[in-house]
Amino acid sequence: MSRSVLVTGGNRGIGLAIARAFADAGDKVAITYRSGEPPAGFLAVKCDITDAEQVEQAYKEIEENHGPVEVLVANAGITKDQLLMRMSEEDFTSVIDTNLTGTFRVVKRANRGMLRAKKGRVVLISSVVGLYGSPGQANYAASKAALVGFARSLARELGSRNITFNVVAPGFVDTDMTKVLTDEQRAGIVQQVPLGRYAQPEEIAAAVRFLASDDASYITGAVIPVDGGLGMGH
Ligand SMILES: NC(=O)c1ccc[n+]([C@@H]2O[C@H](COP(=O)([O-])OP(=O)(O)OC[C@H]3O[C@@H](n4cnc5c(N)ncnc54)[C@H](OP(=O)(O)O)[C@@H]3O)[C@@H](O)[C@H]2O)c1
Repeated sequence: MSRSVLVTGGNRGIGLAIARAFADAGDKVAITYRSGEPPAGFLAVKCDITDAEQVEQAYKEIEENHGPVEVLVANAGITKDQLLMRMSEEDFTSVIDTNLTGTFRVVKRANRGMLRAKKGRVVLISSVVGLYGSPGQANYAASKAALVGFARSLARELGSRNITFNVVAPGFVDTDMTKVLTDEQRAGIVQQVPLGRYAQPEEIAAAVRFLASDDASYITGAVIPVDGGLGMGH
């Protein structure tokens, strides 16, 4: 297989593991990055998904080099944790603008080529927290829960066009995002996880690659938990 794959936020963390999994399988992989040196081995396009113009430019660059995107993994995301009483409007709207509206921007643009090709695979990276809830993460949980309704609506809207939309809901994964947690917070989380540990990014990547593979040709509108049992499938 040598498909044109785009992984947003593929420059580090879970996104990088996903990008590597597709590249190892022989796909042409583009990743987005915002600053610094992107990792080698991919077509790295500079793109902030909160900016529609940058999204458009990134797609043009990918289409010129790899052809229209056939597999989109909307992975880029942020947290701005705060208790509701102290959560500013900016804390809330910036997380929604990145995690939800940013996903809308990249999915909408990918759809153009997928409609023409009459096929496509879209995988959205949500979180166990979206359906489980988490104190101090109302903004993040709302944005991640919204991805489920978004994906399921599109699964219904575009199923007849042979485009699948699925959601992967990781539990706690060892990345920069969770490095900010204290040892005490980490221990508390691990205690609740039946498998008793954090996930490695590669374990999330495996589920994503499966959803984009031929083996998943009849799966759409699904939410696949990869959380060590934390959410018990919700
Ligand atoms: N780690 C976990 O425990 C966990 C659990 C469940 C779900 N998730 C989800 O998995 C995804 C990846 O998380 P991670 O742990 O790998 O996080 P991370 O290490 O913090 O990486 C976040 C990635 O998103 C990119 N990004 C953030 N805002 C962006 C924007 N406006 N435009 C373009 N790219 C942007 C970052 O790019 P820059 O390098 O340019 O900042 C980076 O590549 C996120 O959606 C996260 O919510 C993570």
